[in-house]
Amino acid sequence: MSIKLGVNIDHVATIREARYRGRGFGEPDPVAAALACEESGAHGITAHLREDRRHIQDRDVRALREKIQTRLNLEMANAPEMIDIALQVKPDIVCLVPEKREEVTTEGGLDVVGNLSAISRTCQRMIEAGIEVSLFIGPDIEQVEAAAKTGAQFIELHTGAFAEAFGDNEAREVELKRLAAGAELANQLGLQVNAGHGLNYENTLVLLQHIPHLVELNIGHSIISRSLSVGIAQAVKEMLAILR
Ligand code: PXP
Repeated sequence: MSIKLGVNIDHVATIREARYRGRGFGEPDPVAAALACEESGAHGITAHLREDRRHIQDRDVRALREKIQTRLNLEMANAPEMIDIALQVKPDIVCLVPEKREEVTTEGGLDVVGNLSAISRTCQRMIEAGIEVSLFIGPDIEQVEAAAKTGAQFIELHTGAFAEAFGDNEAREVELKRLAAGAELANQLGLQVNAGHGLNYENTLVLLQHIPHLVELNIGHSIISRSLSVGIAQAVKEMLAILR
């Protein structure tokens, strides 16, 4: 079975907010983009409701929940406001991501080790509500081990350092080894493994050739960027072809 593609539509909302911030309407519409992604074969839609509402708005999340047919992955901080919204909207899965500096590890992912009890409490609340949980972490052994203690079913490995290192063969190898080790350990500990951040039409194939156990990739910026040239349907299809 091929690896699944979740399309992150935040940057569609980024463009809308650049012109229509605070207006409650405007183009382009991230929900329309999500539906077009699904029509082209995307397996899920990812949206990050930030505490500063920089791109996705509350109304987008509600409309996505109503209209999309695939899975809704709500990325959010582990904050009371976001937890309440998730419990109301009931996405299929939430991905806990860091937003405040103290929640971030040196890898740029969520500091699960330093926030173990708060994250575990949120995992429990989500799982009781029938919502799956993923934790966005760097490929750090301690973070993976901590993630396995929280009750979360998934981790999403942060591929940002790999994407940054892509042009430097030596650095790229280091990052690939770390991601592969993280994925291997997560699998051994019973976690399912997603990955994302900074993936594009060039580096994704290399990632797939080296990292075992991947279930889903969450990709946003490169797909939305490519859609300016070829349209969103074609941009999604090209990425799906890579995943196959
Ligand atoms: N996964 C997570 C947890 C993210 O925060 C982001 C960025 O919002 C992505 C995936 C997608 O990253 P990109 O837009 O670079 O593809």
